[in-house]
Amino acid sequence: MKIVKLFDGVYLVDGKLATENIEKRHRVYGEELIHANNTEYRLWNPYRSKLAAAIINKLKTLEIKQGSSVLYIGSATGTTSSHVSDIVGNDGVVYCIEISERNMRQFLNSCENRENMIPILADAGKPEQYSDIVSECDVLYQDISTRNQAEILLRNAKFLKRGGIAYFAIKSQSIDISKSPNEIYNNELKVLEKDFNMLEKIDIEPYEKKHMFAVLRKK
Ligand SMILES: C[S@@+](CC[C@H](N)C(=O)[O-])C[C@H]1O[C@@H](n2cnc3c(N)ncnc32)[C@H](O)[C@@H]1O
Repeated sequence: MKIVKLFDGVYLVDGKLATENIEKRHRVYGEELIHANNTEYRLWNPYRSKLAAAIINKLKTLEIKQGSSVLYIGSATGTTSSHVSDIVGNDGVVYCIEISERNMRQFLNSCENRENMIPILADAGKPEQYSDIVSECDVLYQDISTRNQAEILLRNAKFLKRGGIAYFAIKSQSIDISKSPNEIYNNELKVLEKDFNMLEKIDIEPYEKKHMFAVLRKK
């Protein structure tokens, strides 16, 4: 079996993206577990995760590392955030914000033994709801399908340390179906210009259509 390290905690296992499973023998979304060199890897499906798609499409900046603290907005049922949890390991923390009770219930079932994940049922548009729980973070990750995506990222930027990285998956279809995706991406990123420098813009096709994956550094 051929293992290639792409980033800290992120591998290609026989050409397939994977993280090292910190919750042995447990799956979160039916993903395959592979054993090699006394390690259990969880395959990471780019059709189910925009971060995986961005890594495969040549993301350069992955500042999610062992020990990182991450504020993850839009954790849904835990697909991507569980891989983030693998990468940061037990010295790191992933604060997972999700507005849907239904998604949160499933999330709690599949991630309950991951001690580095802190589930928070809240509206990310109202960060004051969780400002007592979340401390300053190294990384902000946002993947939500609402109209005011950039505005919500900006409201949550107060939790991100200066120089910290924001990963922002922009879904154009949730913002305005009458405008071209490029016009929407430019409008969203303009909202962030004052507070962030743009590092990378990654097209995540063919894994996701009408999405842009942006990497920004907080000024
Ligand atoms: C595309 S899904 C996220 C998928 C997830 N990031 C993954 O890769 O595993 C978007 C999620 O954002 C949640 N969401 C939408 N608006 C939100 C808000 N204002 N606050 C928190 N979560 C929100 C939705 O309920 C949904 O679960």
